[in-house]
Amino acid sequence: MTPGEAPSPTPVLPTGDGFVGRDQERLDIRMALERAATGSGGILFVAGAPGIGASRLASEVAVEASRKGWWVLSGRCAEQDGSPLGPVREVLSAAVASSSVKSLHEAVGTNGPVLARLVPSLRQKARGVSGIGDVPSDRLREQLFRAVFDFLVSCQGAKPLLIVLDDLQWADEATVLLLRDMAERLGGSKIVILGTYWESELDSARPFTTAVSRLLRRRRAQRIALARLSDREVEKMVAAMAETPLTPVQLIGIQAATEGNPLFVEHSALYVAESESMLGGGGQAQASYTEEDLELAQSVRGLIGRRLERLSEPAQRMLVAAAVIGRDFDISLLEAFGELSGHELRDALDEAKRGHFLASAGLDRYRFGHDLVRQRVLAVLPLPRLQAYHLAVADTLERVYGKSANEHASEIGHHLYQAGTAADPERTSGHLLEAARNALAVGAFEEVLRLIDVTLQLLPGEKIRDRAQALAIRGQAYWGLARLSDAKAAWNGALGRYEEVGDSRAAAGIHARLRDIGADGAVAVAVEHTEAGPIATSPAEAELPNR
Ligand SMILES: Nc1ncnc2c1ncn2[C@@H]1O[C@H](COP(=O)(O)OP(=O)(O)OP(=O)(O)O)[C@@H](O)[C@H]1O
Ligand SMILES: [Mg+2]
Repeated sequence: MTPGEAPSPTPVLPTGDGFVGRDQERLDIRMALERAATGSGGILFVAGAPGIGASRLASEVAVEASRKGWWVLSGRCAEQDGSPLGPVREVLSAAVASSSVKSLHEAVGTNGPVLARLVPSLRQKARGVSGIGDVPSDRLREQLFRAVFDFLVSCQGAKPLLIVLDDLQWADEATVLLLRDMAERLGGSKIVILGTYWESELDSARPFTTAVSRLLRRRRAQRIALARLSDREVEKMVAAMAETPLTPVQLIGIQAATEGNPLFVEHSALYVAESESMLGGGGQAQASYTEEDLELAQSVRGLIGRRLERLSEPAQRMLVAAAVIGRDFDISLLEAFGELSGHELRDALDEAKRGHFLASAGLDRYRFGHDLVRQRVLAVLPLPRLQAYHLAVADTLERVYGKSANEHASEIGHHLYQAGTAADPERTSGHLLEAARNALAVGAFEEVLRLIDVTLQLLPGEKIRDRAQALAIRGQAYWGLARLSDAKAAWNGALGRYEEVGDSRAAAGIHARLRDIGADGAVAVAVEHTEAGPIATSPAEAELPNR
């Protein structure tokens, strides 16, 4: 199968009936795609408030592009439990799945070792992908970024390629860096990256926040802001949804309360319909509940909360378990989790699906219709129960993944960390350390540093060898970031601990690394002083005490 013959693109959301408005935005995007098809690719961002319809618009665009012969790939950023470069992995896996073995071999070239770190399926599909060997940390990122771009360009052949990246507000540091790198390469390509993000809730601590303003300022990306739907569009949307038409009073109530936010419109219309059936459809009751209820549910979050309270007890319980697992979840995992099973579980899933809280996302797989739903479910959970749930999810994941649990260390480690004091700190730090190793393999150095900080906080004091390993990995990450004196300090810390436990082999390995960077240490220190200023505490000393 060649690109484009792929079964179908994987749109972020279901598309099709009931889409309203957005004509100007679609026109703007179409123009950008036409330019790209002739060899001037680029980045487009679709941005707006949560629920304004960015993902849906991106899906509509993806379907249209695919119909016109574009190759479409997509990836999504997770709010908290994603592994570094998660969306890039999704894009590459989809590319591997829809390309022929022959074209994969050609596309990989000598980049096999770096690419296979991101997409293990590459090795399975294109056996004997050429090239072995270790890429030194300080050159890994550069090689990886170039490899990803060259790979996609080669796979796409003559077809233009659309890459949809959803929920970029949550992108991890490495994904953001890759995006910035791509921005410099796309100009002469037939590739468009279409990214969505929540503009009104950009968190200044997230790496995407600074990157996006920089890309826009330097005209490396174009932003399409989504405004509210007009009253007429809201009316059309409601008409397409409602089984029985709403009264004019109800419609005006929805138009006023929702301020043209389609997610809000959707939940309001469902709310009104549910209220009606709860009241037995009696005519006189309508006017009063519409006003009163829409007043009570002033915000989309508030309304979702009120609708959740109306669900049956098993459905609510099921949603809590699912929300702890994440935005997407498998039924088998939910079942293994033990909250509900069999018929009761199926009924609960059906009920949540009917209420648009969940949507199908493949065979026996579900997804929260919107992240605000998931956030709302979690918001009302008392902390001790939340922690107990996270612990149960971690236990289940460990059991379900079995031998491949190491590959999922960041996911399991995330749940253990969220379990707080309910989890054994040694177990949590073990997974986090493994996650740091995995992140190091794909050059996600900032993520490595974050994971190692947490690992060192959690590791019991007597775990000297584990501390040595953590410091050795920290050194590697600093080396990858060309922060040589930080790397030295971390490695020296590791060395001391290896010597303390009498591991002369590991100590010799660290010695060799220190010798390697010692050769150009003078240059490195000079660079560091200009870029980052002198470093006050060495990272090894900055190790934090145990909780
Ligand atoms: N133009 C539209 N016409 C009809 N329905 C729409 C439209 N835009 C969005 N919707 C519906 O509204 C809901 C919210 O849309 P969507 O998930 O795309 O929002 P979003 O802005 O991507 O939100 P987030 O990024 O917060 O997930 C979805 O159910 C979607 O199908
Ligand atoms: Mg979205």
